Amino acid sequence: MHQDLAWFLMDAMKVMGTDAVGVSERELRFGMSYLKAQQKRVQLPMVCANLYVKKTSKPLLAPYVLKQVGTVKVGIFGLMSNAVDLGPSRDSLRVEEPSAVAKRTVAELRRKGATVVVLLSQLGKVEGEDLVTAVDGIDAVILGRSVPLLQKGRLIKATVACYGGEQGQYVGRTLLTLDARRKMTTGENETFILGPEIPEKKEMAALVKGFTDSFNEKLQKLQKEKAAKETGKAVQGAPEHFLGGEICARCHPAESAQWKTTKHAQAWETLVAAKQDTVASCVGCHVVGFRQAGGFKDLESSKELAGVQCESCHGMGSAHEAFSAAPRRVTELTCLTCHTKEVSPGFNYALYEPHINHKGTGTRQPLPGSPMRKYLPAGK
Ligand code: HEC
Ligand code: HEC
Ligand code: HEC
Ligand code: HEC
Repeated sequence: MHQDLAWFLMDAMKVMGTDAVGVSERELRFGMSYLKAQQKRVQLPMVCANLYVKKTSKPLLAPYVLKQVGTVKVGIFGLMSNAVDLGPSRDSLRVEEPSAVAKRTVAELRRKGATVVVLLSQLGKVEGEDLVTAVDGIDAVILGRSVPLLQKGRLIKATVACYGGEQGQYVGRTLLTLDARRKMTTGENETFILGPEIPEKKEMAALVKGFTDSFNEKLQKLQKEKAAKETGKAVQGAPEHFLGGEICARCHPAESAQWKTTKHAQAWETLVAAKQDTVASCVGCHVVGFRQAGGFKDLESSKELAGVQCESCHGMGSAHEAFSAAPRRVTELTCLTCHTKEVSPGFNYALYEPHINHKGTGTRQPLPGSPMRKYLPAGK
């Protein structure tokens, strides 16, 4: 399924107008022919100066791109670490020692008229920093591969370094100032969070939606097939397991009736409406005991645990005897496991608690709602 994601990300980068893309062993996970075929399909400018095909001793990808921007020529090259495992390509590719290649490439770019030289580093934090310290002539480096997020970049000798964090949640902007002789005088970098104040681009939102919808459908089909194979094996529940609210309702009808009026009871339907019900990173907070022994696995095998139910707050029902003897109190901390800053920025216990209070004490004030609503189809 990750191959679908790989295609999609490449398509999206193309739509964004990306000028150059750094490459490392992660892009080689499906092998070198796969990467080459995809590159041909998407025509994405991928660069890596120190990745070679063993047989021909030629670089697998373009080592750099040279781009005219106004009156300035920008040379952008890529480097990856030579200490990594190339996976399925380990017999056919080799990675040269990065700093020697960097020196060579910077010289070549300058010879070809590059005013500014940018490195897309896939060397990780330490190796990347060491490299720009050792090699002169790199004006800016974008550090990649498990680097931390720093809101302001910093100057390493004469190189402006950008630390953009992981997973494309941030966009870095590097400003370089050149003097009359076209030499860089100052540079600074800042990283921006893509928050709601940066609106969605229509074409991109449509592209994402089209992809996630069909991806979700495909995963649903796979899960069904898997579940079908597993029936008959009689997966015995863990000795400690979740029961689902239907069982609790037998003895606690009043609490159950109140719970049904809360949004918690609809939390699974919300994900279905958003077509994100197979996305593992979404499911966790919208079901009972996700990925815990005896908890929600998928809709086929644990339908009764979909949604935020009694045990999400009160704990595992098979331990009921114990907790009715020495009840585990529900506190604000229980809520905060799901009502995080990210998904529930307006969470305030005093304001939210009356809505879930089974005795109906306290006045229900209107709630601010969640930024996650953007996932719902228009009008929901
Ligand atoms: C067979 C009946 C039965 C079932 C099923 C049942 N309970 Fe109970 N529950 C009780 C009884 C009896 C008490 C004790 C009532 C009392 O002391 O007032 C109790 C007490 C509780 C309490 C209060 C503890 C306290 O005193 O603060 C909670 C919370 C609770 N149950 C939750 C659940 C949940 C969640 C489920 C489902 C996983 C569940 N119960 C299933 C019978 C049941
Ligand atoms: C297992 C995760 C989880 C826990 C624990 C949890 N919630 Fe929620 N809560 C959710 C989800 C998911 C939603 C959104 C449901 C929907 O709209 O589909 C939600 C919605 C709500 C809403 C409705 C918000 C609205 O806009 O109407 C209130 C109120 C609320 N929770 C209060 C609480 C309180 C108070 C606690 C702690 C006592 C708590 N929740 C614990 C996951 C959780
Ligand atoms: C950390 C737990 C958590 C994760 C992860 C999570 N959610 Fe939620 N979600 C919540 C809570 C809590 C609320 C209610 C927040 C509030 O109203 O304050 C919520 C609300 C929502 C709502 C709004 C429902 C409404 O009626 O207003 C949607 C839609 C939603 N989530 C979808 C998603 C999707 C899609 C994902 C994955 C990208 C996701 N959630 C991941 C906990 C989570
Ligand atoms: C969002 C969290 C949450 C959910 C979901 C939830 N409860 Fe509760 N429940 C509470 C809180 C908070 C209390 C009061 C404080 C306490 O007892 O720890 C409470 C109290 C109770 C009590 C003690 C008696 C009472 O009314 O005060 C019972 C019984 C109970 N809940 C059963 C259930 C059952 C059954 C469900 C599912 C149908 C359920 N709860 C779902 C948070 C929740």
